Order: sequence, then C-alpha cells, then structure tokens
Amino acid sequence: MKLTVIGCGYLGATHAAAMAELGHQVLGMDIDPDKVAALNAGRAPFFERGLDELLAKHTASGQLRFTTSYAEAAAFADLHFIGVGTPQKPGEMAYDLTHLFSAARQLAPRLTGPAVIVGKCTVPVGTAPQVIDILREFAPAGDQVEVCWNPEFLRESYAVEDTLHPDRIVLGFTGENTRAESVIRQAYGRIIESGTPVIVTDLATSELVKSAANAFLATKISFINAMAEVCETSGADVQLLAEALGHDARIGRRGMRPGLGFGGGCLPKDIRGFMARAGELGADQALTFLREVDTINNRRRERMVDLAREQCNGVINGKNITVWGAAFKPDTDDIRDSPALAVAQKLHQLGATVTVFDPKALDNARKAHPQLEYADHPIEAADNADLLLHLTEWLEFTRLDPKAIAARVAAPRVIDGRGTLDPARWRAAGWAYRALGRP
Ligand code: UGA
Repeated sequence: MKLTVIGCGYLGATHAAAMAELGHQVLGMDIDPDKVAALNAGRAPFFERGLDELLAKHTASGQLRFTTSYAEAAAFADLHFIGVGTPQKPGEMAYDLTHLFSAARQLAPRLTGPAVIVGKCTVPVGTAPQVIDILREFAPAGDQVEVCWNPEFLRESYAVEDTLHPDRIVLGFTGENTRAESVIRQAYGRIIESGTPVIVTDLATSELVKSAANAFLATKISFINAMAEVCETSGADVQLLAEALGHDARIGRRGMRPGLGFGGGCLPKDIRGFMARAGELGADQALTFLREVDTINNRRRERMVDLAREQCNGVINGKNITVWGAAFKPDTDDIRDSPALAVAQKLHQLGATVTVFDPKALDNARKAHPQLEYADHPIEAADNADLLLHLTEWLEFTRLDPKAIAARVAAPRVIDGRGTLDPARWRAAGWAYRALGRP
C-alpha cells in the first residue's frame, strides 16, 4: 500500500520506518527541513535502538522517503497517519493541539478524493470529532474523507519493537465509516495475522484508552514510590517489597520499579492533560487521585536533593557532585522532563558544581542546561567528587568497578536513585551507599 505519516518525531519517524518494513511504500512528512534531511539520509534525528538500521534499509530501497511538502503528501497516497506532537501547553495542564489541528488544516484542502486519516497522537477525549470538523469544512472530498483513531502505545527505547509487535491495536471509528476499517486492517495486515488483538470501538473510547493506559502506568510507579517513602521511615527495603508484591499476578512486577520516578514527554504531560480534560467534562473528581500521583512523583526529586544534602553534611554549596544519567530513562537520548536533570539543576541552584555524564543524552543536556558541567566518561565525571548520584539506570553504570571510581573521588559517597547498583559490591569497595527507599 501507499501511505504517508505526517509528523516525524519519535512516534512518526518510527511508524514510517516500521510501515516500510511491513512492505508498504511510505512518504514521511515533517515541517522541519533538518529532520527531513537527516531522515532522507537514513538517520534518525534522535537515538532509538534499531531505527537507524530500518531507516537506512528502506531509504536505500526507495520504499521510504521524507518530504516537507503537504501537497506531495496528499498526492502520494489516500491513507494518511498523523503522528504530530501534542505537548503540554506552557504554564497550563492542558494539551497543546496546535500541531494536530494545523496538520488537519494543511492536509484537508488537498484531499480531492476518498481518503482515510488515521490519528495516532495522544489527545484529550473529544479531539477526533474536532479533526473531523476541520476535514469536513476544508476537504473538497467531503465525507469521502474518513477518520480512524488509532492510539500508539510504543515506549521510547523499544519503539521499533513495540511498533512492529504491538500488544494490541485499538481502532476508533465514527460508526459511519465505510472503507476506513478495511483499509487500516489491510495496512496492519501482517501484524494482525500474527495474532495481535484488535479492539474496534468508537472514537471516544479509542482516545480514552491511551489516556487511561498512561494514567495507570504513572499510578503504578507512584504507588511503589509512595511505598518507598514508607520504607524510608520504617527501615524497610522497597526493592524487596516490589519484588514480593510483583509475584501476585494481579499486581505484577513490570512497570513497578521504584526510584526517582517518571519523566519523559508522555506520562507527566498525559496525566496532567487527562486531569484538565476531565475538569472540562465535569468529571474532575474522578481523576483527583492523579494530582497525588504527580505530587508523589515530584516528591522523589525533592527527596533525592534532601538525601544529597544529608550526605554532604548539610551543605550543598561549594560541593562537587557527579550525576550519572541525563536521559529521562536508559537507552534514549530524550531529556524531556528528565528526573535526573531536574535534580542536577536543583543542586546547581543550591551552589554545587554538578558534572553530568550520560552515554547518549549529553548533547541534548548540554544544549538545554549549559550551566552544568559535562564529562565524556563516567569515571572522569567522578573526578574529585564529594558525592556521586546514580539517577538514570543505564546498564553500563552497573558494570563499572566501584573500586576504580573510589580512587578518583574526594569522598566515596553514592546515592542510588534507581536501585540498580549492587549495594554489597559498592560497600565492599569502601563506599557509603544510600538509596531511595532502602535502609
Ligand atoms: C510511555 C508508555 O510506557 C508507553 O506505553 C506510551 O506509548 C508512551 O509513554 C507514550 O505515551 O507515547 P515512555 O514515556 O517511552 O512510554 O516511557 P516508560 O518506559 O513508560 O517510562 C516512563 C518513565 O517512568 C521513565 O522516566 C521511567 O524511568 C519511569 N519508570 C518506568 C519508573 O520509574 N518505573 C517503572 O517501573 C517504569
């Protein structure tokens, strides 16, 4: 099939490459010429495991191309996936839907024949009908343009795998569609044939599935982090608690790692946007618990700063503090709402000299936080440190030799914000080891 993907960020670029991998002819469209140039050269403008390989393979074969032109996109196919960003509005809890509505407005006047528009971005419930209104108003093809809402559940750092092997496909329709369902089922043919469950529903339910899923994931993380707070006051160990809870199949171990909490471009803004939308709908009471989820999450960052102060004998000002990790989670270079950088920034404000190392996110961190110091190697970052903070759990940090690092620092004190360093090994190497939620 021929199809386009409008918006080529984490979601769109991965979707475009994955659809080419499924055998389709794909044109990706983005308004950013630098992004489009990189993608046409077979390179992702961000780090995502396996994506460069797919881009290189399919741009070379000619099955995948990128453009900045809406006219070219509209002429290329009659199946268009929209994957533009829906960030949080500055200073507000609600979503900024400007990019989505602008994409619909740009595409609509160029839709002269039957077309299927598939919304993939995360939106507040009730957005799809507004997209339909725009299409009805501006598309010459009128009601021959059909809309499907098809939320995306990919995780960054597993984006390629999650897109090619999703655990479910959710399709929302108006109820009036004639072609849309068969077109989209054909596009996802290989995925569906492999046994992936398909849930066909109305537009509102399909939009809500995504909001509810991210609200649940965030709640699970804040739940275990609230337990970490209780552990800290009672001498219990949250890592063992999480393991013991996880054996109950109703609770499950996955997505319940205690630590510095959630960040990134999705969970934080999605729970806020969900609350804002519930407020507009008069259902705000149903989601007040998400305010607490957000508060618990932010409290983890404050707790890390307090622990750091405690480890520095009450004075942060003038101390050398090393921060391992800048990305919001391992295996990505994404620093949006990164808990690690939030802590680093706060310590800097309190007068510490903060030196950050991250295996992939240093360039992004340098641009966003030029006031921090950076090192190109984790051990070099620890030179002369009064305190070492482990804030993003890259696997490589667990492999470093704590003895070798102890020889470089001013004082062998470490706080493990993610609970993946081995306390026995670090203590045996002479470190004073502290961790969130552990005695
Ligand atoms: C999240 C969801 O997991 C995806 O299903 C969803 O599609 C995506 O948002 C989205 O809305 O687009 P992502 O933001 O890539 O994906 O990251 P996660 O792996 O969910 O991690 C989010 C944050 O929670 C990270 O900061 C991570 O360190 C933290 N986390 C995650 C924990 O603190 N504990 C956990 O057990 C899991």
